[in-house]
Amino acid sequence: MAITTTVITGATSGIGEAVAFALAKKDHALYLLVRNVQKGEEVKQRVVKETGNQDIHIIYCDLTDLATIVAAAEQLKSKLFNVQVLINNAGGMFNKFKLTKDGFETTFQLNHLGHFLLTERLMPLLEKGHARIINVSSAMHKTGKLDVEHINDRQRYAATKAYSNSKLFNIYFTKSLAGRYASKGITAFALHPGVVKTNFNTKLSGGLKFFFSLATPFMISAEKGAQTIVYLATAQKLQSKSGGYFVKQKAVRPAKIANDEAAREKLWSLSDNMVAKFNT
Ligand SMILES: NC(=O)c1ccc[n+]([C@@H]2O[C@H](COP(=O)([O-])OP(=O)(O)OC[C@H]3O[C@@H](n4cnc5c(N)ncnc54)[C@H](OP(=O)(O)O)[C@@H]3O)[C@@H](O)[C@H]2O)c1
Repeated sequence: MAITTTVITGATSGIGEAVAFALAKKDHALYLLVRNVQKGEEVKQRVVKETGNQDIHIIYCDLTDLATIVAAAEQLKSKLFNVQVLINNAGGMFNKFKLTKDGFETTFQLNHLGHFLLTERLMPLLEKGHARIINVSSAMHKTGKLDVEHINDRQRYAATKAYSNSKLFNIYFTKSLAGRYASKGITAFALHPGVVKTNFNTKLSGGLKFFFSLATPFMISAEKGAQTIVYLATAQKLQSKSGGYFVKQKAVRPAKIANDEAAREKLWSLSDNMVAKFNT
């Protein structure tokens, strides 16, 4: 049986960790891109122990540090001939405005730009694997918009706004990938995992933390939250749905704004320019 090689970000916690367990059980070879290697090794040990799958690998990659993304992609290229599944899952929301060392607002870089660069750098492996690229978005994309002038604007920063925008960008990115790389046999999918009990809101504080804590009793487990990602990584015959947005394992229509082709193209060229010096 051919081995499916899967690369995943954000597998040291929550939804990504549950996806790693589920795909390890399905005999995927897993490459976990993590910012905390010790935490990654601990997840690996638990996955190996519980599933018996030894083909689990940890690679350092901090999505808020573009140089580490390039280094992680180079490591993968030196180890692998191809990649069949890339799951861009890591993400977060931040109370306070903060620039990364690359000079971009943190939510924007973690949730979108870092994954943009990672995907581009992995493209030779993804093309050889006729890969599926899975971008973890959110229902919060509905209140997002592309406001190029203010991505890095400290004065106008609001955590939920920055997060919603980034989750809209995940859908724009998905549709762009589906269009640009269809001829290479690549497909791309975005999804909302549900409202999931993870470490997501434990890093928030004040009113935001309170707001999210109100939803806690209604949250689903990480295992349930992982289901749509696992579906997209493993289901047969998804090609015709490439570019789609999924909820509860079904293709659904995203908000109207997600279909704005001009905004999508604008985001692509903006992102391309921003990572240009890392993407040669
Ligand atoms: N939970 C929900 O209700 C919900 C709803 C809709 C969408 N989502 C999306 O689901 C995805 C996973 O979130 P989650 O709920 O599972 O949250 P989580 O438990 O906080 O997990 C986030 C993951 O991202 C990793 N990460 C954070 N910053 C990173 C960085 N700079 N570089 C590399 N990795 C980094 C974290 O690593 P550490 O372990 O080192 O912190 C962790 O593995 C996110 O994209 C989120 O937007 C979640």
